[in-house]
Amino acid sequence: MSGELSPIDKAKFVAAKQSVEYVEDGMRVGLGTGSTAAWMVRCLGERVRDEGLKIRGVPTSSRTAALAREVGIEVISLDEAKWLDLTIDGADEFDADLSLIKGGGGALLQEKIVATASDRMVVITDAAKRVEHLGNFPLPVEVVPFGWRTTQALIEETLIQMDVLGRDSTLRMNGDVAFVTDEGNHILDLHLGRIGNPRQLAMVLNQMPGVVENGLFIDICDTVIIGHGDGRIEIRDINEGTAEEKRLDFVEDDNLFNDLND
Ligand code: A5P
Repeated sequence: MSGELSPIDKAKFVAAKQSVEYVEDGMRVGLGTGSTAAWMVRCLGERVRDEGLKIRGVPTSSRTAALAREVGIEVISLDEAKWLDLTIDGADEFDADLSLIKGGGGALLQEKIVATASDRMVVITDAAKRVEHLGNFPLPVEVVPFGWRTTQALIEETLIQMDVLGRDSTLRMNGDVAFVTDEGNHILDLHLGRIGNPRQLAMVLNQMPGVVENGLFIDICDTVIIGHGDGRIEIRDINEGTAEEKRLDFVEDDNLFNDLND
C-alpha cells in the first residue's frame, strides 16, 4: 500500500506516526480533524489495539468521532473530560512562531475549543504548510447563518484598516448549498494573501457580533511535527526552543492504509 501513497501522504503519515509517541497511558487526548489527523487517529487506534494503551479521546468533529470509534478509541465529550493532557491536530499553515491557520476542513471552532483546553497542542503537518507569513491559505471564519451577508460586508469593510493584502471573502459551499459546520454555522473564507498582524486580526474578527470564531490559532500550538515524503521528521518545540530531526522508516501496513477516506 505504501507504494500507492503520494509523497505528501507519506509526509503526513510519518508526522502522525511520530505524534502518537507523545500519548501515554491514562491520557485524555484531543483528536483533530482532517487528513493528517485521520492518520494520527489510525496510528493511535493501532497502539490501543496492539499495546493495550488506555486513553480517552475527545474528537473535534463528527467525522473524527466516527473514525476514532471505528479504530477502537474510547470517545468522550469535552465536558466529560473537562481538561485534556494533549491535543494532536493538523493545520493549513504555520509560521516560525507556531501561529496557525486552521479550519480548511470546517472544524475550526471545536478544534480551537479543544486545543485551548489542553496542556499541550501538537500540530502534525507536511513541510508545504510552513510559511513566512500566514494568509496565502484562505482564512476560515465561522459565522452564524442569521445575517451572514451583513457579517461578510462588515468583515470586508473592517479589513480595509487591517494589514492584509486582499479582502475578498467567499461563503464556503458544499455542492450547491452553503456548508454547515457541526455547530450549525457557515464559514466565510477570507482571501487575504498575507496577514501582517495575525494577533490583531484574530481579536478584531472575534469582536464582530456575527462571528463565532476565526481560524487563527495564536499562542496555542506548543510543538510542530513536520513530516517529509522521504521519512524525515522535524520536531520544533516553541516553549523549550528546541529543534530536532529524525527519520522514520516507512513500513507498509495494510491495516492503517486500507479504507482511509478522510
Ligand atoms: C480542519 O478543520 C482543519 O483545521 C485541518 O486540521 C486542516 O485543514 C489540515 O487538514 P489536512 O490535514 O487535511 O491538510
